Amino acid sequence: MRNKVSIIGAGMVGSTAAHWLAIKEIADLVLVDIIPDMPMGKALDLTEAMPIEWLDVKIEGSNTYDAIEGSDVVIVTAGVPRKPGMSREDLVGTNQKIITDVVENIMKYAPDSIIILVTNPLDTMVYLAKKVTGLPRERVFGQAGVLDSARMRAFIAMELNVSVENVHAFVLGGHGDEMVPLPRYSTVAGIPITHLLPKEKIEAIVERTRKGGGEIVNLLKKGSAFYAPGAAVAQMTEAILKDKKQILPCSVYLEGEYGLSDIAFGVPAKLGRGGVEEVIEIELTDEEKEAMKRSEQLLRSTMSHLKL
Ligand code: APR
Repeated sequence: MRNKVSIIGAGMVGSTAAHWLAIKEIADLVLVDIIPDMPMGKALDLTEAMPIEWLDVKIEGSNTYDAIEGSDVVIVTAGVPRKPGMSREDLVGTNQKIITDVVENIMKYAPDSIIILVTNPLDTMVYLAKKVTGLPRERVFGQAGVLDSARMRAFIAMELNVSVENVHAFVLGGHGDEMVPLPRYSTVAGIPITHLLPKEKIEAIVERTRKGGGEIVNLLKKGSAFYAPGAAVAQMTEAILKDKKQILPCSVYLEGEYGLSDIAFGVPAKLGRGGVEEVIEIELTDEEKEAMKRSEQLLRSTMSHLKL
């Protein structure tokens, strides 16, 4: 049996995720969007790239949800990005309507799938999707930490002029300016960066990681990041389909871990065929606990704009 992955929202992040996934040749793909014909166009274009790369992947586009039937994983990137003059709260309201509609359709047409949210504000949308679907947290969670830690890895590698393959980085907390990068758990060839870089350099890397999304938005002028977010969700999907038991930072609905409940928050999670198979808890210093608290507060204030 071939794996099947559906992507709801065939915009920049959705179609780039499809591209990364196609290269991995691990599943047939379906792109769904509300814009008439657009997902069919992108699917056909990708299909026509497959012979060039000798990739055996079937890619279909659709404006209706029946196409997602039998999906193993459904990735959700549907939504509207924040435009000038739009508050974070406005975004919650608009994307709440979209995500509610999307996940209700997923439950109707692919009720056994694992759902990975990418739409922002990410943790709030994961919380909403968990509440709307009633699924166990193992099967509905979000991508943010893989992207944030990849950004941090890139910045560490640039600073030390070493291969990114040697660099691991650890980021906890909500996806946003109050995320919690953990330098003492971030390593180069196993050595914590706290042994390799002075405090000011580490602080600059942490700050750049926190503002990583905004940095891209400012450079692009129009739209937000898509290559790295697409690659990040493709990595999570691969870990699931190949039952890798890979530990990746994910936005997961917490049930007491890190002293938090009834919130979706970025934590290290073990990803396998069952989705989030375990939430990994680590010891935090008082300073790190404080940073987690600030991240939680910011997130709860965004969540308070949900109408549940
Ligand atoms: N059903 C399906 N698709 C929808 C719906 C819906 N109800 N509402 C909107 N869409 C589609 C849009 O038509 C658009 O093609 O979602 C797509 C979003 O794509 P882009 O506008 O290109 O946005 P993108 O850059 O891909 O970001 C998508 O991911 O990283 C996050 O912050 C980002 O929340 C944003 C999301």
